[in-house]
Amino acid sequence: MDIRVLTPSDIPHVQSTNITNLPENYFMKYYLYHALSWPQLSYVAVDTSRPKRTPYDPPKIVGYVLAKMEEEPVNGIQHGHITSLSVMRTHRRLGLAEKLMRQSQRAMVEVFGAHHVSLHVRMSNIAALRLYQDTLGFTNEKVELKYYADGEDAYSMRMDLDFLREPTLDADEDEGDEVGDVGKKENGDKAGGKKVRQRRVKIGKGLGVGDLVERNESQV
Ligand SMILES: CC(C)(COP(=O)(O)OP(=O)(O)OC[C@H]1O[C@@H](n2cnc3c(N)ncnc32)[C@H](O)[C@@H]1OP(=O)(O)O)[C@@H](O)C(=O)NCCC(=O)NCCS
Repeated sequence: MDIRVLTPSDIPHVQSTNITNLPENYFMKYYLYHALSWPQLSYVAVDTSRPKRTPYDPPKIVGYVLAKMEEEPVNGIQHGHITSLSVMRTHRRLGLAEKLMRQSQRAMVEVFGAHHVSLHVRMSNIAALRLYQDTLGFTNEKVELKYYADGEDAYSMRMDLDFLREPTLDADEDEGDEVGDVGKKENGDKAGGKKVRQRRVKIGKGLGVGDLVERNESQV
């Protein structure tokens, strides 16, 4: 079994896994929106046990997590959101969902400096609730009445990610001694004699992929 980052060519297979496992389904462009805007956050579980017969055989995707960053965070506090998670029945209780979630959470912290991650789950979804609450440590923030299209209520859950931030982002790491001219540090913001330039990068709608956000097109 291989857990790896989702690539755009996986999307049709992820979409078919989603349709098999969940009533909440999305247009292809919504998957693409995630993959283009936050390429580090979504992962797939691939069953590599059966060898490909031809180089053109698609990967056997048996699980996925589709995740994003909140684009307009309240108070400017960066946080991630799990859009969808599922594992094929044939491959459940192997720890795949847990691993997919942990990979995504780590990337939210390392790449985007997320402080917490949020999600919605049906109140009747015992398997997912056990996974989120008992295995991963999510807590229930509130109930959102009639959140789902069929009228079911959702728990809005959240998990603090600061325990991942401390060892990664905030550590005062020992980078070792200088190696030649390249490693020379003159002061805090210089390396190798050259000023280190920090670049602002655009994410989400800022990339110009806003048109990929899913809308209810029946009401146009
Ligand atoms: C929920 C779901 C993603 C779990 O996937 P999974 O790969 O089987 O989960 P894991 O093997 O990582 O399970 C980790 C832990 O979660 C809990 N858990 C998972 N499935 C469970 C179940 N059916 N009943 C009770 N607890 C369960 C257990 O604590 C489990 O640890 P254990 O196996 O050591 O007891 C999967 O059941 C699924 O795809 N369901 C349909 C889609 C869905 O509901 N998605 C979530 C939408 S919010």
